[in-house]
Amino acid sequence: MRSAAQVGGPRAIAARMAALFLVSFPDTVRAMFGDRPPRPEAMTDFFAFVVRTEPEGVQLALAGDRIVGYAITLASMSRLSARAALTFAWVPWVVRFLGGRYGLSLGALPGIARSKVAFARSFRPGDRVAAQVLSLAVDPAWRGRGVARALLEGGLDYLRRQGAPRVKLEVLDDNTSACHLYETFGFRPVGEVPYGPRRWLILIKELATGPA
Ligand SMILES: CC(C)(COP(=O)(O)OP(=O)(O)OC[C@H]1O[C@@H](n2cnc3c(N)ncnc32)[C@H](O)[C@@H]1OP(=O)(O)O)[C@@H](O)C(=O)NCCC(=O)NCCS
Repeated sequence: MRSAAQVGGPRAIAARMAALFLVSFPDTVRAMFGDRPPRPEAMTDFFAFVVRTEPEGVQLALAGDRIVGYAITLASMSRLSARAALTFAWVPWVVRFLGGRYGLSLGALPGIARSKVAFARSFRPGDRVAAQVLSLAVDPAWRGRGVARALLEGGLDYLRRQGAPRVKLEVLDDNTSACHLYETFGFRPVGEVPYGPRRWLILIKELATGPA
């Protein structure tokens, strides 16, 4: 496992992460792009920003020079948002979005905004957490070999070095392999958000005291 800081250029890394994201999260991709073929630029831009902003928070699993898995574990989501705002990183994103470069379905935006509000509301005040496992994905051909476990261990070690006391994440309740993985790491549910017939579970892990 390596962090993105050790691997190479942010854009090239981000493009390969975006390709993995698109095959790994069909629900999210469908919500964003509808039935049209997805365009990776939106994810590539976002991942490149994350890799530039917090390279050690991006763990990569490599097979030769191929990226076969990634974990994004960020010490502070609000720090990432503030940086996007203050560095005007959002300007080219808006231009590309309005120019149709991302191919994103406009109809998806209110739903995405509603779900963000629902997630924010679902937290009890004492459960608010800065650090987050933002995304974790492994190439289908490489699953079931401990890659995600190693990525998550690397990401949580990074958060501990950053002094994060707790970390949160969101996972769909029917994502059996991911739920099992998080449970074995000591994540516990603190809230849930309905998602059609399914539920997003909000999980938290204490980093300072919990077992790795
Ligand atoms: C979830 C995901 C990251 C797991 O990656 P992985 O490399 O296969 O996971 P690992 O091999 O490290 O296995 C982790 C644990 O999950 C278990 N697991 C793996 N596949 C499983 C499956 N299909 N059903 C049940 N458990 C499974 C393993 O047994 C292992 O537990 P163990 O060590 O106690 O045996 C991978 O399936 C993936 O990319 N899925 C699509 C994206 C996704 O759902 N990401 C998580 C979103 S929150």
